[in-house]
Amino acid sequence: MTVIREATPADAAVLDAMVRELAAHEGDLAHVHVDAAAWSELLARPDVRVLIAEDESGAIGFTSTVRRIHLWTGGDLLALDDLYVRPDHRDKGVGSRLMTAVARLAAEDDLLVQWGVRLDNHAGQRFYARLGATLNTKMTASWAPAQYRRHLATTR
Ligand SMILES: CC(C)(COP(=O)(O)OP(=O)(O)OC[C@H]1O[C@@H](n2cnc3c(N)ncnc32)[C@H](O)[C@@H]1OP(=O)(O)O)[C@@H](O)C(=O)NCCC(=O)NCCS
Repeated sequence: MTVIREATPADAAVLDAMVRELAAHEGDLAHVHVDAAAWSELLARPDVRVLIAEDESGAIGFTSTVRRIHLWTGGDLLALDDLYVRPDHRDKGVGSRLMTAVARLAAEDDLLVQWGVRLDNHAGQRFYARLGATLNTKMTASWAPAQYRRHLATTR
């Protein structure tokens, strides 16, 4: 039987492992700098809420959220960071159940939930559309320290 529960600092090691699996799946492992020790501190923060799905074999998936200020409304929103289900457990409704648990979390304070999905992730877009989410296209930009330092070095 699968249960969804809120993660605590005691889940730091398994969460660290799942975040690395997800990053490896996305070819982004080099960008993961958080480790289990950092997770145990993050999981103690009130604005970081992580939900873990587990069955008799242990953790099988998770979703991570951060509650943060939304300046245009002056209120908070719930930023959904990751949604991940381990490969052997996919297509059994666990991802949908994790999203339902996110909706419950957001409904406590009527928060808008926001997240990103890659343009080539058509299965993900179908999955979110089925949940009734709005899908908009918007490109994201990032400015790494080396990039804006280059800009600063060439700008008066
Ligand atoms: C997305 C994910 C969490 C769905 O979990 P799940 O437990 O399989 O979800 P459910 O059983 O509730 O629903 C299955 C549906 O999710 C779809 N899905 C969504 N994103 C998917 C993805 N990246 N890879 C495979 N299937 C995905 C499946 O295709 C299926 O829908 P379909 O029948 O229309 O094809 C899981 O596939 C996963 O962890 N994928 C890798 C990480 C990822 O892509 N995360 C989302 C980034 S936006």
